[in-house]
Amino acid sequence: MKIEVYGTQNSVTEKDLKDKTVIVVDVLRATSTIITALENGCKEVIPVAEIDEAVSITRTIDNDTFLLGGERNAVKIEGFHLSNSPLEYSQEVVKGRTVVITTTNGTRAIKKAGNGARTYIGGFRNASAVGAKAAEEGDDLVIICAGTGGKFSTDDILTAGAIISKLLELRTEAIQIDDLGQVCKFLYEYHKDDLWEALKDTHHCKVLMQNGFEEDIRFCFSLDATDVVPFYRDGVIRKL
Ligand code: MLT
Repeated sequence: MKIEVYGTQNSVTEKDLKDKTVIVVDVLRATSTIITALENGCKEVIPVAEIDEAVSITRTIDNDTFLLGGERNAVKIEGFHLSNSPLEYSQEVVKGRTVVITTTNGTRAIKKAGNGARTYIGGFRNASAVGAKAAEEGDDLVIICAGTGGKFSTDDILTAGAIISKLLELRTEAIQIDDLGQVCKFLYEYHKDDLWEALKDTHHCKVLMQNGFEEDIRFCFSLDATDVVPFYRDGVIRKL
């Protein structure tokens, strides 16, 4: 088995994902929000790259059954029901609903990841569960970190490390890990007992804190809080 990590979605091509298991990570906050929505009983999540596209998809869905969610530059999109804060996606709000979501980086990365053999959504909150799923599949694994504005984000890198760390606990054969994967694993294992301290001064954390989202960050950094493994196929994300 081989494990490769992409630090941003930019350089990933269709060929890189062929026949592989793919895990997409945008821990702050898109993939954490999607994991939480599904954990809280939302029927499905439709990730979309553009705002217009999100609005036009909802025209095909019964009015009472959908929610439009997302952000641009961390801020809720005008006219949408929800922002990209996982804390807004509570059971009372999302149960039984279809969530159509568009975010600055995360939903774009998910759309790109659909070219693999199978695609999962990962974060700190489900790191062990999604790592175990990839270990069980046994195929080569690609982890795509969404990054922020074309640059890598340390929060995604440490999340990839958490997933790799779990996978290695479960598979005993020799596994080839690319250089970035090894860096992710090393950094995660070094910082795993205090993710907040390791990440609080990074760019994305600072942007979220300036916008009043410290509670979101702490929520997204809760390691192994859930067993939910979202699965992306044919444009829709559902719980496995
Ligand atoms: C993104 O997709 O860029 C992020 O989820 C941004 C955010 O933190 O809302």
